[in-house]
Amino acid sequence: MIDLLTVEKQLISSHIKVGGVAADFTMGNGHDTRWLSEQVGKEGRVYAFDIQETALSHTEALLKESGCPENYTLILDSHANAERYIGEKICVGMFNLGYLPGSDKKVTTLRESTMAAVQAALRLLEDGGGLLIAVYPGHEEGTLEGRMLDDYFKTLDRRLISVSKLMIVNSPTSPFFFLVEKK
Ligand SMILES: C[S@@+](CC[C@H](N)C(=O)[O-])C[C@H]1O[C@@H](n2cnc3c(N)ncnc32)[C@H](O)[C@@H]1O
Repeated sequence: MIDLLTVEKQLISSHIKVGGVAADFTMGNGHDTRWLSEQVGKEGRVYAFDIQETALSHTEALLKESGCPENYTLILDSHANAERYIGEKICVGMFNLGYLPGSDKKVTTLRESTMAAVQAALRLLEDGGGLLIAVYPGHEEGTLEGRMLDDYFKTLDRRLISVSKLMIVNSPTSPFFFLVEKK
């Protein structure tokens, strides 16, 4: 059976540059931040965003104990404000939408800020770069976020940006992914 988490990493890997700049737009417990930190290496940089202080403290602890390079900047602010903090182009950006498993389900990503953040990420993305966006349609806001992004991505010029979608067709409430690639 397909393991979506493994596929997610495979999809985005070809866009990662050693020494490049990456962004984790939904830090959570820091698993994606750690992976990005290891991928870009000590000459690279990772910017990670979350609106919950617990996400920052969990991520900081994870990064310290895992011994990954000190190439990260953890930011307590909405990903919608990413351009206030990132003043350079990114090769890769990751979004893992929804709420943090095991925490307050009311603190979830929301359509308005998700759209602003995705548009900011597209502006920050270098030519040849990629965004990976995981959507969780198992809850109502997740379903609506997925539809909103689907509608938005259909409007983008395919000569400039390619958007692919990976989903389990016979499991419509399972997470699915958008891979956004800038040509
Ligand atoms: C599914 S979790 C991310 C899991 C994370 N990638 C990991 O590896 O543990 C979604 C996270 O998005 C965060 N979030 C919600 N709204 C946000 C916003 N406007 N800006 C940044 N992060 C936000 C939540 O606090 C939550 O920690």
